[in-house]
Amino acid sequence: MSQLTQLVPLFQKIAGEAYVLVDEDSRNHYAQDHTENLHFPPDIIIKPRTAEEISAIMKLCAEHRITVTPRGAGTGLSGGALAHQGGVLISFERMNSILDIDERNLQVTAEPGVITEVLQQAVKEKGLFYPPDPSSKGSCFIGGNIAENSGGPKAVKYGVVKDYVINLEVVLPNGEIIWTGANVIKNATGYNLTQLMVGSEGTLGLVTKIVLRLIPHPKYDLLMLVPFNDLEKAGAAVSAIFRAGFTPSALELIEINALKIVSKFVDSSAVPVTDDMAAHLIIEVDGNHLETLMSEMEAIAGLLADFDCGEIFFAEDSQQKEELWKLRRRVSEAVKLVGYTIEEDTVVPRAELPALISGVKALGREFDFDVVCYGHAGDGNLHIRIRKEGSIYSLNNDKVIPALKALFRLVHSLGGTISAEHGIGLIQKEFMPIMFPSVTLELMRNIKKVFDPHNILNPGKIF
Ligand code: LAC
Ligand code: ZN
Repeated sequence: MSQLTQLVPLFQKIAGEAYVLVDEDSRNHYAQDHTENLHFPPDIIIKPRTAEEISAIMKLCAEHRITVTPRGAGTGLSGGALAHQGGVLISFERMNSILDIDERNLQVTAEPGVITEVLQQAVKEKGLFYPPDPSSKGSCFIGGNIAENSGGPKAVKYGVVKDYVINLEVVLPNGEIIWTGANVIKNATGYNLTQLMVGSEGTLGLVTKIVLRLIPHPKYDLLMLVPFNDLEKAGAAVSAIFRAGFTPSALELIEINALKIVSKFVDSSAVPVTDDMAAHLIIEVDGNHLETLMSEMEAIAGLLADFDCGEIFFAEDSQQKEELWKLRRRVSEAVKLVGYTIEEDTVVPRAELPALISGVKALGREFDFDVVCYGHAGDGNLHIRIRKEGSIYSLNNDKVIPALKALFRLVHSLGGTISAEHGIGLIQKEFMPIMFPSVTLELMRNIKKVFDPHNILNPGKIF
């Protein structure tokens, strides 16, 4: 009997027999996330209910040097929640309570397995707003969003997850339970362990309670869709909007091929596509005064005429808005299904977007890839997917890797970086040396060692 099998009764005693799974179906189910065709079955899946249970599990795993992989909803795009070395996988799906909405202080305390959109709706009912809204918001967990420091369309005005997390309860790899900070919006008390946890991809500790700051929910939003016949001009229009003094609450770009594919995928004719179009910008403004928003929209529309935009479509009601957002949110899923395999998450300073777009297209020609672009243009955050006939993605694909290295060198030369909101996980780690010299990577490794000296928590991720 292997050492792991011998521990199963002990795990069952901690979490309950029904919540420790070793059957093949479960192992296969938890072997995947949304990162292409990776498949790494864990040996044991545990679904604990409390931080104390996780603490007991971690103590046992630390004693026996067993690898532990934390997992949210499995919507990740960099393989961070995959147990690529086997061992124990801890799923947070049962830790799904919103514990407290503090209307006096505009804060919410939640467990990590709460679905992001469920949390957003719960606070919205109290007139409050938690803005970070990844495309997977209907299924992803808030804990996973913290692990990846997720963003989404609203980040352009409201910031990303890190801008809302103020305090975390964390189980350390040795099983101790700590709080990282305090429930305050200013904190200059020692190193900022809260922010160190955010984006650490489950490598430093297991987050078991989350305190987020909230803001009042804006009363109105307006949405428009702007076609361009030149992709780079669409990119150039983006930074002009900000330079003219506007901060839209979303500013997204969808290249025409992606729009055609997703329109078919969701069976929508919401956006007419003609052959002279190259890309669309989706622009949203929000606030509490409708007239101000209307004049902002008009001013932005006027400015876009300088970039040869086509006829602008203004969403008239919430149904039209939802239809447009549905198209945008499902692009990634739709283009993946027709063979655009690897989703990249590049980000550059906003005004460099046209240079990134033209560089990406040039790389596509050089390496003979189809390239499709979409994403959070207002943040300079462009998702790029490539397709090449006869090529299947693998971590060692010798055709794909040189193209990605060229892409990341371009991103680095433009002052950007290789991930804005999806994390490094498994699939981007070999590109980290493009971004950081060895001294910086060594600092990160040493931080990992302080938290996890036996390297049992999500090992082999990030670096
Ligand atoms: C999006 C996700 C994939 O922007 O980040 O659609
Ligand atoms: Zn995105």
